[in-house]
Amino acid sequence: MKITVIGAGNVGATAALRIAEKQLAKEVVLIDIVEGVPQGKALDMYESGSVGLFDTCVWGSNDYKDSADSDIILITAGLARKPGMTREDLLMKNATIIKGVTTEVMKYSKNPIIVMVSNPVDIMTYVAWKVSGLPKERVIGMGGVLDTARYKTFIAEALNVSMQDISALVLGGHGDAMVPVVNYTNVSGIPLTELLPQDKIDALVERTRNGGIEIVNYLKTGSAFYAPAASAVEMIEAIVKDRKRILPCTTLLNNQYGIEDVFCGVPVKLGKNGIEQILELNLSATELAGLQRSATIVDENCKSLNELIG
Ligand code: LAC
Repeated sequence: MKITVIGAGNVGATAALRIAEKQLAKEVVLIDIVEGVPQGKALDMYESGSVGLFDTCVWGSNDYKDSADSDIILITAGLARKPGMTREDLLMKNATIIKGVTTEVMKYSKNPIIVMVSNPVDIMTYVAWKVSGLPKERVIGMGGVLDTARYKTFIAEALNVSMQDISALVLGGHGDAMVPVVNYTNVSGIPLTELLPQDKIDALVERTRNGGIEIVNYLKTGSAFYAPAASAVEMIEAIVKDRKRILPCTTLLNNQYGIEDVFCGVPVKLGKNGIEQILELNLSATELAGLQRSATIVDENCKSLNELIG
């Protein structure tokens, strides 16, 4: 197994280290355009292996050739949000970067699985799918796992219970219109609605929607990276170990949930072939409308890129 991580910023570097520590690959290559940074960070990580005891070879490069024959390519390249910026503000700048990155990596790997993290992630997943020519099952966006992680954290905190016992789902695009599905949220099988009053649940849902910007407002010069990296590596682990995990991921919908030809976050089965199944839930009318509204926003943004990616 060879995994390439594009972008040696906070998300990319944190993800590369987690991949190595979990020994998910024999080789992890960290690629970035900034000279010396991927090499230095990767060497530092590799040297930590003798302390943390992993044998994964981690190395860095500025040359896409070194991504050759990757099984999985994690794309984290691009600009991060600053305070006051929506994920969509990043659209044009990052679409151009992702187009270039995807073109380069596809020169050297025949049939990789691409896991997209760069924002706005649903749209960047579309760009990578379009530019790569890969089947839709092999181009997967990380949004829902992160949003669900935040939602679960806030629930565990509100109830003072273990995070491990929370089962939840956040669907839709990874943006302000995301849809935390309250009816499918439970704590060891007990519906959340039996454990918390509606106004408390509404507050948790609202905090989840603003989870990204809450961190941006603290950091000022960047956005979240520990939870995004952990979320991406959770997806990679499901693929590498063929675990058939059910996780909310961004995928191309073709008529599921009444959504046609748009990338959007829904529950999928993740295994060695990438997305092996899309699960359709019985959403309430409000939740379904929320999901479709979120998909419409993604679709409009994708269409605005027609000229760039053809
Ligand atoms: C967030 C950014 C990374 O949600 O989208 O933190």
